[in-house]
Amino acid sequence: KTIYLKDYTVPEFLISKTELHFDLSADKTLVNSRLNIYRNPDCKKTNPDLVLMGEELTLIDLKVDGERLHPEHYTLDDKTLTIHNPSARFVLEISNHINPSTNTALSGLYKSNTMLCTQCEAEGFRRITWFLDRPDVMSIFSVTMVADKDEYPVLLSNGNRTGSPNIALADNKHAARWHDPFPKPSYLFALVAGDLACLKDSFTTCSGREVALEVYVEEHDLDKTSHAMQSLKNAMRWDEQAFGREYDLDIYMIVAVSHFNMGAMENKGLNIFNTKYVLASEKTATDADFENVEAVIGHEYFHNWSGNRVTCRDWFQLSLKEGFTVFRDQQFTAHQTSEAVKRIKDVNMLRTHQFAEDAGPLSHPIRPSSFVEINNFYTLTIYEKGAEVVRMLHTLLGETGFRKGCDLYFERYDGQAVTTEDFVTALEDANNANFEQFKQWYSQAGTPTVTVTTSYNQNEKTYTVSFEQHNNSPSTQADKEPLVIPIRLGLLDDNGKELNLHGEQTSTVLELTKAEQSFTFTDINTEPTPSILRGFSAPIKLQQTLSIEQKIHLFQHDKDAFNRWEAGQNCLSYFIFKTIDAIQNHHKVPPLPDELVGTFRAILQQPLADLAYQSLLLSLPSKAYLAEQMSTIDIDALYQAHRIVKQTLASSLQDLWLAHYHANHHVGAGTDSQSIAQRSFKNLCLDYLMALETDEVRSMCIQQFETARNMTDQIAALAELSHLDTSINVSYFDAFYQQWKNEDLVIDKWFALQACSETTDALHSVKKLTQHPDFDMKTPNRVRSVIGAFATANPLHFNAIDGSGYEFVADNILLLDSINPQVAARLANSLSHWKKFDSTRQQLIKAQLSRIQAHTPLSKDVSEIVSRSLTA
Ligand code: ARG
Ligand code: ZN
Repeated sequence: KTIYLKDYTVPEFLISKTELHFDLSADKTLVNSRLNIYRNPDCKKTNPDLVLMGEELTLIDLKVDGERLHPEHYTLDDKTLTIHNPSARFVLEISNHINPSTNTALSGLYKSNTMLCTQCEAEGFRRITWFLDRPDVMSIFSVTMVADKDEYPVLLSNGNRTGSPNIALADNKHAARWHDPFPKPSYLFALVAGDLACLKDSFTTCSGREVALEVYVEEHDLDKTSHAMQSLKNAMRWDEQAFGREYDLDIYMIVAVSHFNMGAMENKGLNIFNTKYVLASEKTATDADFENVEAVIGHEYFHNWSGNRVTCRDWFQLSLKEGFTVFRDQQFTAHQTSEAVKRIKDVNMLRTHQFAEDAGPLSHPIRPSSFVEINNFYTLTIYEKGAEVVRMLHTLLGETGFRKGCDLYFERYDGQAVTTEDFVTALEDANNANFEQFKQWYSQAGTPTVTVTTSYNQNEKTYTVSFEQHNNSPSTQADKEPLVIPIRLGLLDDNGKELNLHGEQTSTVLELTKAEQSFTFTDINTEPTPSILRGFSAPIKLQQTLSIEQKIHLFQHDKDAFNRWEAGQNCLSYFIFKTIDAIQNHHKVPPLPDELVGTFRAILQQPLADLAYQSLLLSLPSKAYLAEQMSTIDIDALYQAHRIVKQTLASSLQDLWLAHYHANHHVGAGTDSQSIAQRSFKNLCLDYLMALETDEVRSMCIQQFETARNMTDQIAALAELSHLDTSINVSYFDAFYQQWKNEDLVIDKWFALQACSETTDALHSVKKLTQHPDFDMKTPNRVRSVIGAFATANPLHFNAIDGSGYEFVADNILLLDSINPQVAARLANSLSHWKKFDSTRQQLIKAQLSRIQAHTPLSKDVSEIVSRSLTA
C-alpha cells in the first residue's frame, strides 16, 4: 500500500502521558502500557474510533479507565487495534507479550548477543506495544524496567533516572525507573538491558550544568571506548559554540550493539550505536574508522536539537532532521580535521553514489511525495543531497544569516513536529529573505546539469559567463522549473593570480534563478581562466569546456582547495575516458601530456602544509565515480584504462613515490592529524607503486603487512595483496584471520577485502565465505561485509557477463528477506542500476529482479525496491 504526502491529516487523538512497564526476558517480555489519550481539538475529522498501530504482538489485557474492555468494543488485526467509540479523554491500559529473541528484523525490542535493546525509528515502536506510532504524536514517557539481576544488571532508558538506583525485587529480579521530561514521538523511545561495561565521564555545559556521560559496551570492548567519549565531548562543545545548542538532560548515554540495521540512532538521552561507530583502538581500527566514529557520534548528538527537540511532522519530512543533521556533522568534522579534505570526501561520495541513485529508477526528491516502506527512504538523497540543500541555504545567507535563521528555527519550533517548509520559513523570516523558488529543491528529483560558456571582449575589457540549467531528471516528474543555484566563482590570470571581482573579493557567489542567465565582469584586462562552482557550491553536474591547459593551470594555481583538486581530477578523468575510448575502438592509447605528469611531479616535490589534502590532489578518480559519468558502463575497459593511467603515473614518478613511501614509513600508531595524513600519503604511494607489479614493491608491501603496528597500514597492505592470485594471497588472509579472529569488526574487514578481490575466482571465494563458521545472516555487519561488499564494491565480478554475480546476490536477497527485510532491501538496491549496462547485462539483471518479485512471501521492503527498479 502506497502512502501519500498529500493525504496527511493531523492525528485524531493525542497521548499526553505514556507509562511503560517492562518485565524483560529474552523469549517473553511482558509490556504494560498506560496511555493518557484525548481527542485532538485541532482535528476536523469525526471518525469515532481510535486506531492504534501494532505488529507481532500478543494481546493479554485491555482496559479503558480501569475497566476491562469487552471484545465487542475493540477490533484486532495484524496491524491495528481499534477501540470503538472511546470518550474524549480516557486512560488506556494495554498488556502484551513480545519475543525479543525471534526478532531477527532488528526492529522493535530484540536480542543482540546477551543484551536486549531497541530500534524504533521509523516504525519499530509498534512492535513493542500498540501505539499512535507516528512522529507528530509526542508524549511524556516514564519507564519501569524489571529484569533478572544477574543476566541484566544494567537497565537503561530515556531521560533521567528516577528514584534510587536499581531496586531489588523477589526472584532475583531488580527494577529501574526512568523519566524523560521532554515530550517525544515513539520513534525516539529506547531501552537497553544487559551485562555491560561502562566508561564514565562528565561534561559541563556552557551554562555550567554538569552532565554525566556514559558509554556502554560488552566487557571485552571497554578498551576501545575512549575515542568515542572524547568525540562526544568534542561534539557537545562544538554544538554550543557553532550553533548555540546546549544539552538538556542530566545524563547522556551511548550503547554499542553488534546487531544493528543502520549506523546509529539518536534516541533521547540514550543513543544506540552499531559497534562499528563506537569502538576504536589504534590496533583494531583504521584512521577512517576513527574519523567515522567521531562523525557519527557527532551526528547522533546533534540530533538532540535537530530531530528530537524539533522533530518531523511525518516521515516525508525525514530530510528535515537528516539533511540538516548531516550538514551539521559535516561542519563538525571539517572543524575537527581539514575543511578541504572533508569537503572533497563528501562531494566524492555524493557524486559517486547519490548521483547514481538520482539517475536511476530509485530517484526521489529529498521530500518524497509517496512511499510504500519508509525504511527504504533512509537514502543518500534524503541524507547527503538533503545536506547539500541546507549547505546552499548556508551559502546564500552567509554564516551569520544562517545562524540567525537556525536560532529562530529552534526557538520557534521547540517541542513541535514540523515540516521542511517550516525550516525554510524560519530561515526566511530571520533574514527577510524569499526562498519561494528555492523550495523547488525539496520537491524536484534528479541532478541538474549546468552548462557554462564564457566570452571575453578585448575592447570592452569584459568577461561574460553564461549558464544554462537543465533539470533532466526522472520520467516521473515532467514539469521542471528552474532552480535557485548558487555558483561560487573566481577568475585566475595567466600567472595564476586571483582577480579582484568586486572590491577586494576574489570569490563571489552568483545566484542562478533562470533557465539561462549571464553575468558580466568588468575591468578584466586579459582573458582569465574561470574557476567555477568553488567548494562545490551546488549539487549539480557542471558542463564546461576547458582546454587541458586551462585545467592544468587550475590544478596548479586555484586558491580554492576544492576546485584545485577538481581540476586535477578533471584532467585525469579526461585521459581515462580517452583511454577507454581507445580500448573500445582498438586505437592506440593516448599518452598523458608531459605537463600533467610534470604537475604531479611538482605537487609530489612541494610539501604542502595539509598533507592529507596533498594525497587527495595526487589520487586518481575512483572507478565508481568514473562509472557514474558513463552512459553505458564498460567495466572491463574502465578497469583497464584506470590501470593504464595509474601505471603511467607510477612509472614516470617511480622515484618520488618510493622516496615518499620511505620518508613516511616510520610513522607509528598515533591518531593525531599529522600521523594520519602521513599514513594516507604513504599508502597512496604504495598503491601507485604496486601498479608497477615488481617483486621489490611486492615484498615491501608484504613487509608492511607483516610489521604494521596499526590497522590502517595493515589493511592498506592487505588490500593491495587481496588482488593478487588467490594462491598467493590466501596465506596473508589466513595469517590475518589467526591474528584477529576474536575481533568482530576486524573480521568484517577481512571478509570485505576478500569479497572485493579482483582475482578471477572472486565469486567462488565469496560463496565459500558465506559458508564460513563466522558468517551469519542474522548479523547485518557480516552480511554487508560479504554480500554487500561484493554487490557494491566489486563491480568486476558482480557484473560478470555470465550473470553469476547477479544470481548470487539475488539468491541471498531472498534468503535474507525472511530474516531481515530492511537489510535485504538495502542489498536489492544493487540491482537497480541495470540501465547503465549493455543489453546482455540488462536482461540478466532484470531476470533476477523479476525472480525476486515473483517470490512469495516477499517483504514490502524488498518488493518496493524491485518493483520500482523494474517499472522505471
Ligand atoms: N535516525 C538515524 C540516523 O540517521 C537512522 C536510523 C534509521 N533506522 C532505520 N531502521 N530506518 O542517525
Ligand atoms: Zn540522522
